[in-house]
Amino acid sequence: MPLRPILKYPDPNLKRVSAPVSNVDHRVLSLLEDLVETMYHAPGIGLAAPQVGTLERIIVLDVDKELGGVGLIKLINPEIVAREGSTVFEEGCLSVIGFTAEVRRASKVTVRAWTPEEKEVQFEAGGLFAVALQHEIDHLDGKLFLDRISSLKRDLYRRRLKKWMREGFPEELTAPSSSL
Ligand code: NI
Repeated sequence: MPLRPILKYPDPNLKRVSAPVSNVDHRVLSLLEDLVETMYHAPGIGLAAPQVGTLERIIVLDVDKELGGVGLIKLINPEIVAREGSTVFEEGCLSVIGFTAEVRRASKVTVRAWTPEEKEVQFEAGGLFAVALQHEIDHLDGKLFLDRISSLKRDLYRRRLKKWMREGFPEELTAPSSSL
């Protein structure tokens, strides 16, 4: 079960829409295991298949129960079927180096998905769990949290990133452990 390299913005694969999974076969199950291992290793609390360059609708999350989560979950073809309320959370992404920003999202979502056991599930989520689900499902639609902040902030980050790519990344750059 190898770790997979995580694509970083501005990799064009992060902007592509992922395809639904039609068959939970051995390949999909081993991709799920790799995603879990890669997420924990990063470390992060969520990871979507397109972040490792596989354009399929698969996500894994591990949000603590105290933050509204259920521990480790693996979801196939997840879909938000209802959203409610509004909340702002400081998000970081494993595919976005050295940047976090406050993002406004629904505070409660209802998600329908398939489990690796090919069981259809529907559940409600709140708190950080709801934020994480929306962030990961965005990845499946080729969206990053950068697409949900002001163009001014996004532009500042782009310029900073270009400078780092030219002159080298600062050594003290660390991602928050709640990266998605
Ligand atoms: Ni992310």
